Amino acid sequence: MQAFRKILKEMTDLELLWGEPMANLTSFRIGGPVACVARPLGEYALRELLAAVRSEGIPHVIIGGGSNVLAPDGPWHVLVIQVFRAAGKMLKLCADGAQIRLVHVGAGVKLSTLLRFSVCEELEGLEALVGIPGTVGGAVVMNAGSREGSIADALVWVDLLDESGGKRRVFRDELPAGYRNMGLPENAVVLGACLELRTTKRAFLKERMAKTMKQRRQSQPIGFPSAGCIFKNPPGISAGALIDQAGLKGLRFGDAEVSMRHANWIINRGKARAADVVALMEHMEGVVFSRFGIQLEREVRVLGEGKTFH
Ligand code: EPU
Repeated sequence: MQAFRKILKEMTDLELLWGEPMANLTSFRIGGPVACVARPLGEYALRELLAAVRSEGIPHVIIGGGSNVLAPDGPWHVLVIQVFRAAGKMLKLCADGAQIRLVHVGAGVKLSTLLRFSVCEELEGLEALVGIPGTVGGAVVMNAGSREGSIADALVWVDLLDESGGKRRVFRDELPAGYRNMGLPENAVVLGACLELRTTKRAFLKERMAKTMKQRRQSQPIGFPSAGCIFKNPPGISAGALIDQAGLKGLRFGDAEVSMRHANWIINRGKARAADVVALMEHMEGVVFSRFGIQLEREVRVLGEGKTFH
């Protein structure tokens, strides 16, 4: 704690929350107190903070919107860095040809805000992201998307800070993007992205988005605290269908429950603990492996694993 305080005291343009529970920062609403949460208020402050924690060896994690993470029950002696204040600016619109528009968007902007903007500006190309929580930064890192496509489909370039703190612009064709992974350099921090969208009619866009949202509401437990899909789909198969066929819907460890609506979602029924969720995931993995010989791979990022849970 002393080392944290000493370094943070010397820095400016930081919002600091001491002892903040991770439950307040994650869509799962799970997680105990961390030593400190730091929100740099600009890019310069972010770069300074990253340089300081790296050179001093301060344990830290960087999170975006907190919608695809499971935080430990804590207390957890770590500095959590939230990027959204430093890169929360939206949205320059640059004309590029008659039907194409380039949108520059900060990593901290919520996907829902970006989607609303695209509707206002009558731009298509992001419909696959309707209803997905989180920020642009998180969506870019994990190539968020759905059956209909992913954010990589619209991506032109990403601005990032690399491990040594240098700012770099990486173009889409340099990135080996795949299913739920953009292939960004290790430990890179996304600052913003440029997306290529096409002009369309607002009514048409609204209708398509409303249809997708309706399907989501019918097939997914939206509204409960969760981290969305827990496992990646194995090639050619739906993880949800496997978990369902294994008879695990409704299984509950503490307040963590395999959703009755969609078996690849674990929902927090109230006071779920990270330990309950981890135990449930391990159980699901074990049952699916013994029934089908398929090893499920986690989509949710389990923070502090190995240090805090065991
Ligand atoms: N299914 C079941 N039981 C279930 C759930 C699904 O039998 O409990 C069956 C469905 O009936 C369907 C098949 O599995 O035949 C596929 O289900 P669904 O259409 O719900 O799609 P999914 O593969 O489970 C993927 C993404 C979702 C995304 C939807 C819709 C992954 C891991 N999941 O789900 O993304 O919203 O398609 O496009 O890629 C996320 O990544 O967090 C996420 C929610």
